[in-house]
Amino acid sequence: MAGAEAQDAMKRAAAEAAAAEVRDGMVIGLGTGSTAAFLIDSLAARVRAGLRIIAVPTSERTAAQARAGGIPLTDFAAHPRLDLTIDGADQVAEGSLDLIKGMGGALLREKIVADASARLMIMVDCSKLARQLALPVPVEVVPFGIELPSRRIADLGARVRRRLGTDGAPYVTDGGHAILDCDFGPIADPATLDRALRALVGVVETGLFIGRAETVLLADAAGVRRLQRPGGQ
Ligand code: A5P
Repeated sequence: MAGAEAQDAMKRAAAEAAAAEVRDGMVIGLGTGSTAAFLIDSLAARVRAGLRIIAVPTSERTAAQARAGGIPLTDFAAHPRLDLTIDGADQVAEGSLDLIKGMGGALLREKIVADASARLMIMVDCSKLARQLALPVPVEVVPFGIELPSRRIADLGARVRRRLGTDGAPYVTDGGHAILDCDFGPIADPATLDRALRALVGVVETGLFIGRAETVLLADAAGVRRLQRPGGQ
């Protein structure tokens, strides 16, 4: 199998393993991204076969896919507490299971939905696992005065780049914000960095998910392994 095809097969395997953990009656947070798209397909097939769930989507595109697949959607007004959120990630730190998320631009809703959930389960292919988080951190910011958080994040030691859409125009999130991709290189202390970023005026949220993932379903050529955060359920 060619590289991208093999990676897709792993994403699908992790997503199908995650979908199998969903039980009748659950309120589910639905993640965003290519791995989450496999999850939604898999859950939609289970719903057609009689599974009764209700879901909160983490993006407009996830909502559209879930609706098209017949998965009933809800919101926090009706369901303030979710049983389980299942999502992808861009990078997973071995051991701590800290994450970088947001390459798909949905980090704010993803963090809100994860925060409202009793459990966060992450599905990844093995290319996402790293000894240390080191990818550029997506930081969602208010567009007004974007130069100010940009400069302050650079002062924290990052190379900062405003994310552009495929059309070359500034990327706009579902919440109407901008994203700064902030390259700090390897991140020695993600929790401290997350606090420092969130303290800056104009920053809405970061793609650092610290101590949130309880379980990671990690797919490689041999199958799907389950990683559990020490101290998680
Ligand atoms: C979306 O904003 C992201 O956090 C995704 O969960 C992450 O980018 C993983 O995406 P893929 O499953 O497409 O790799």
